[in-house]
Amino acid sequence: MNHSDLSVSAAVRSRRSIKSFKSDPIPEAHLEELVSLMQDAPSSWNFQPTRAVLVRSMAQKEALAAAAWGQKQILEAPVTFVFAVSIRGWEIHMDEVLKTGVSSEAWPQKFADWIRQNAPGFQKGLGEKEREYAIKDAMIMATTLALAAQSKGYSTCYINGWDETKVKEVIGVEGDMNIAIALLLPVGVKSAEAKHPGRLPAAKTIFTDRLPSPAI
Ligand SMILES: Cc1cc2nc3c(=O)[nH]c(=O)nc-3n(C[C@H](O)[C@H](O)[C@H](O)COP(=O)(O)O)c2cc1C
Repeated sequence: MNHSDLSVSAAVRSRRSIKSFKSDPIPEAHLEELVSLMQDAPSSWNFQPTRAVLVRSMAQKEALAAAAWGQKQILEAPVTFVFAVSIRGWEIHMDEVLKTGVSSEAWPQKFADWIRQNAPGFQKGLGEKEREYAIKDAMIMATTLALAAQSKGYSTCYINGWDETKVKEVIGVEGDMNIAIALLLPVGVKSAEAKHPGRLPAAKTIFTDRLPSPAI
């Protein structure tokens, strides 16, 4: 660990959605470490449906910004991560995931066998929600990256404002119904500060044991 890394709490407190970035590149070693950290994010059944694309060339950044209503963070930041998911990727990778779980001694063979028997039915039973479940995993990976980047002195901006069909075209998966887009996340050195826009009082969003209904 780099001793100048921010603690998790400090990264959470200091992270802001940054709208302007310097053109400074991220050194390859830093980028590799960020990718390695985000890859350690957990996922449902450890099936790892997230497929991340690092958009780095100016031509690709221009195309991606155009797919995101011209948001200039994408043009300015040295890299924007496109968090996509392969909704049915688990069908291809389940054997490898189970083998790795057993050989690392994280999972007894019995547990791996139980997953093999139950996970496919669970996944298929999700129906249309299978996409939503994969996107949960991608959002956890994106959040892991945002906090890891913050801890190492870089800034980010979560971006939901884009046209999915166009983003898919940019990364070369147009028409592939197995792929969904979860989020874009530019990462770089900020060129302007952003203030904390505040949060609702906790009394309006955090509850104990039960949620009032109708929800407020
Ligand atoms: C899932 C998600 C999507 C967002 N999409 C955008 C976006 O498209 N463009 C943008 O400028 N900010 C976007 N934001 C940033 C929010 O506006 C911002 O997080 C919120 O105002 C709170 O500010 P903070 O992130 O600085 O705490 C998004 C944030 C989240 C969590």
